[in-house]
Amino acid sequence: MDTLLNTAIEAARNAGALLKEGFRSQFSVSSKTRYHDLVTEYDLRAEAIIMEHIRGSFPMHAILTEESGHHETNSDLTWVIDPLDGTVNFAHGIPLFCISIAVISNNEILVGVIYSPMTDELFTAEQGKGAYCNGNPIKVTEITTLAKSFLVTGFPYSVSDNPGYCIEHFSHLVSMGIPVRRLGSAALDLAYVASGRFDGFWEVLLQPWDMAAGSLIVREAGGIVIDYHGKQLNMKSSSSIIAGNSILAQEILIELQKVDHVYQSGEFHE
Ligand code: IPD
Ligand code: CA
Ligand code: CA
Repeated sequence: MDTLLNTAIEAARNAGALLKEGFRSQFSVSSKTRYHDLVTEYDLRAEAIIMEHIRGSFPMHAILTEESGHHETNSDLTWVIDPLDGTVNFAHGIPLFCISIAVISNNEILVGVIYSPMTDELFTAEQGKGAYCNGNPIKVTEITTLAKSFLVTGFPYSVSDNPGYCIEHFSHLVSMGIPVRRLGSAALDLAYVASGRFDGFWEVLLQPWDMAAGSLIVREAGGIVIDYHGKQLNMKSSSSIIAGNSILAQEILIELQKVDHVYQSGEFHE
């Protein structure tokens, strides 16, 4: 049956097979907004495969993708797609990347699928039905003490502009002695929080295609996703995000806000 979930899974697996085939091959790469903001021919080819698959099953649904933007229709349902999350890793032969596909209706995320082709891990969630990795239920961790946590973060391509004090946020949490990883794929970061590999994640200014699928997967794994004001995320625009179990996510928020307070109130002098 062509359910939303099945279609998302098939599209992600098809694109995953293509990315696996192209990994470490000769391919064209170009820069978008900045030198390191890359797009490879595989981003575009994966996106085309996913869109074709979705349109084969649900021709009336709207689509939002990273590489080709909005394809609007009259439908309430929008497919939100990152055909290759972790492009810089892919372009440099590092096997940490994935495909991220979500279906949203207004601001509700109905389905989320993240597929990591190099590890053959498929993370899935449907609203109200739990989260799974390769069909096995997954859960966020129960660590509630920030000092004991293991975190992951990322930086936007505009990191040199230091949006939202993201460099000071990172520096502050690392200075607390917390091991913090930067994998280079926000969707995988969220899938790994949902699976209990990391306790929490934060990143400034993600796009809907980076976070929609992963947000549902984290929630269905028993966690929360909030913005830097502690509010629910808006899946129609860029947003900053914190994910983890409800206590740890709040702990991260408190630390980020402490940093904001210092810099915004001018308590910091160089
Ligand atoms: C990027 C990755 C990275 C995150 C950036 C994203 P892309 O997406 O998710 O981890 O730090 O903010 O833009 O360009 O690889 O699809
Ligand atoms: Ca992305
Ligand atoms: Ca991408």
